[in-house]
Amino acid sequence: MDLKGNWNYPTAIRFGVGRIKELPDACKALGMKSPLLVTDPALAKLPMIVDAVKSCVDAGLGCGVYSNLQGNPVEENVTGGVAAYRAGKHDGVIAFGGGSALDTGKAIALMVGQKRPLWDFEDREDWFTRVDVAGMAPVVAVPTTAGTGSEVGRASVITDTSTHTKKIIFHPKMLPSIVIEDPQLTVGLPPHVTAATGMDALSHCLEAYCAPFYHPMAEGIAIEGMRLIKEWLPVAVKDGRNVEARSHMLIASSMGATAFQKGLGAMHSLSHPCGAHLGTHHGLTNAVVMPYVLNWNRSAIEAKMERLGAYLALEDHSFTGVLDWVLSLRESIGIPNTLADIGVGEEHASLLAPEAFADPSTGGNPLPMTAQDFEKLYRVCIAGTH
Ligand SMILES: [Fe+2]
Repeated sequence: MDLKGNWNYPTAIRFGVGRIKELPDACKALGMKSPLLVTDPALAKLPMIVDAVKSCVDAGLGCGVYSNLQGNPVEENVTGGVAAYRAGKHDGVIAFGGGSALDTGKAIALMVGQKRPLWDFEDREDWFTRVDVAGMAPVVAVPTTAGTGSEVGRASVITDTSTHTKKIIFHPKMLPSIVIEDPQLTVGLPPHVTAATGMDALSHCLEAYCAPFYHPMAEGIAIEGMRLIKEWLPVAVKDGRNVEARSHMLIASSMGATAFQKGLGAMHSLSHPCGAHLGTHHGLTNAVVMPYVLNWNRSAIEAKMERLGAYLALEDHSFTGVLDWVLSLRESIGIPNTLADIGVGEEHASLLAPEAFADPSTGGNPLPMTAQDFEKLYRVCIAGTH
């Protein structure tokens, strides 16, 4: 099958190998004459970005590059980008890279025309209505990892260093107007990054599927996303140059983020404070806590897991069968077993638990959670007990 397509759900997606060459056309389609390409400092030096900038310049576009951002991006990364955007008189953003670059690029595009500070647009109540929509810049998103799905997301996760909390900045129009998904851009990812980001995509699908709200469309997308991940993540980790595996993982990643419009859950609630305080990798942290959270929620998700197990064609369709699949997948792609293995110690549980409880993802957990529950669950994930 030719793994290529033009889709308009949930936004305009140009999918297929080699389609990065359409970047200048995508910018022009959104009326840009001088985009600012936002990426991370490591990618900025690679031919992938150098070539993309050159293709824009060759097509008659002015094209600046902003790369002053870090993994788990902070407010200064956004304000620096806004300053670069204004100084260069840019008229749109190309958000190009992994989750950090995509989130920062989307946040810059939001902030270039706002008078209020960034934190006023946190995803709380109806705060998004504070946004001056006319001030938002258009965005073309180009993912280079398969996991975050931020290219089809309506939010950015930015760390507030004054409180060491990850905050979700949200507006429906933060969904990039055009996405270019070129699987070739992901073939150079090393196996451990492929594994960690791929498990982030799985956590999006799993949490969205399990969230206790009525949203059959999201659930349908989530289970097919999980099937693709089951078939292709181990292949992509083992052989990064397998473009078929990279293709299926890239779209599975977008499917995870599309599905989680429905909601997330305790995997993300536990993961965000670890990233904010200890700098742990987001996808890796989700992967570590995944089986413990499933087990915690067992009473609320047993029937759903059976349906999932049947769809995934597992030998054992039951909750236990799905849990065993998650455990064996984790092991086969080299994910550590406990939070202690990635630097989260017993002493952190009481510090992190209130923040996990306050995380916006908590509302989507199948079982209601208290701060005390999160402390218990952290201890389970740290010690590796079920
Ligand atoms: Fe995530």
